[in-house]
Amino acid sequence: MNEVLKVEDLEVGVPTEQGFANIVNGVSFSLEKGKTLGIVGESGCGKSMTSLSLMGLLPPAVSYRGGTINLKDNELTSIPKKAWRKLRGKDIAMIFQEPMTSLNPVYTIGSQIVELILNHRKISKKDAYAHALKMLQLVGIPRAEEVLHEYPHQLSGGMRQRVMIAMALSCNPEVLVADEPTTALDVTIQAQILELMKSLQEELKMSILLITHDLGVVAEMCDKVVVMYAGEIVEESTVIELFESPKHPYTKGLIASLPDIEDEKEYLSSIPGTVPSPTDMPPGCRFAPRCTFAHEQCRQAPPVVSVNQESRTKCWLYVKEEIPVKEGM
Ligand SMILES: Nc1ncnc2c1ncn2[C@@H]1O[C@H](COP(=O)(O)OP(=O)(O)O)[C@@H](O)[C@H]1O
Ligand SMILES: [Mg+2]
Repeated sequence: MNEVLKVEDLEVGVPTEQGFANIVNGVSFSLEKGKTLGIVGESGCGKSMTSLSLMGLLPPAVSYRGGTINLKDNELTSIPKKAWRKLRGKDIAMIFQEPMTSLNPVYTIGSQIVELILNHRKISKKDAYAHALKMLQLVGIPRAEEVLHEYPHQLSGGMRQRVMIAMALSCNPEVLVADEPTTALDVTIQAQILELMKSLQEELKMSILLITHDLGVVAEMCDKVVVMYAGEIVEESTVIELFESPKHPYTKGLIASLPDIEDEKEYLSSIPGTVPSPTDMPPGCRFAPRCTFAHEQCRQAPPVVSVNQESRTKCWLYVKEEIPVKEGM
């Protein structure tokens, strides 16, 4: 297996009056070269905190509490700030849900891409501009030469998202982290951007970590997927197995709440209740209060069980006599 990124037992938390509350709790996954791994879960499950922790961009109050993140030869939770700046953009780059959060409104598109390129490569400004232009063309921006001299607000949402992809890819990163990259866009543009990411991935041999609350996007884009609930991974599986035979009751609920294909607006059902906050986690299985299969045992935290070669889940329903492979995912 050719792993470019390996996260093991990651814990990320915030201080509270009752001590540290874990926003991300014992998360493990790995990303293989040239593949796409999805992270799926409802809003508030810790997907963004997981992705920000891969970039060294956690918000001020939030910090690493344990575990490791290995990207090539670097262990990221313990490297100094300066080393992050070298890695970010070149080895690992991120695109966000809302392009305006990473595009600076007061600089032209061109100068922002050029600055990023010059941070990582020793080339002339002229060559950097030429490369920026090439990147804008690569992501399908019409009138790319003019767009270089324009400001973010002069572009549509879809075009801004393309600019952000161009920027993220301008230093040819090994790993691209895309946090809900198309959520803010309408359906047609969403499909175009996903298609674009796929073709660029093939061209540049990138690995993608795709964060989304949308299982439709997972089906379209990913090879493997991890399902996150309340800061933990509750299921990890190949995409085919996930849709054909979901294991965890939470995953089953997510799949059942996909819109009916016949009628996009007709939701079949949804999971009652809401994701608990990090300061108010139920003891034992975190999903138990919303789970129709919950029983006595679920008062204790479930172990992770390998159900078959394709899938693992953190649920008591799958614990037979043979006991679990490993604590934490
Ligand atoms: N800056 C912050 N400080 C403290 N808690 C936060 C902060 N940002 C997010 N959280 C909490 O972390 C949890 C996970 O959030 P997030 O990673 O944004 O979820 P997702 O991306 O899956 O919607 C949520 O309960 C959220 O309230
Ligand atoms: Mg998020």
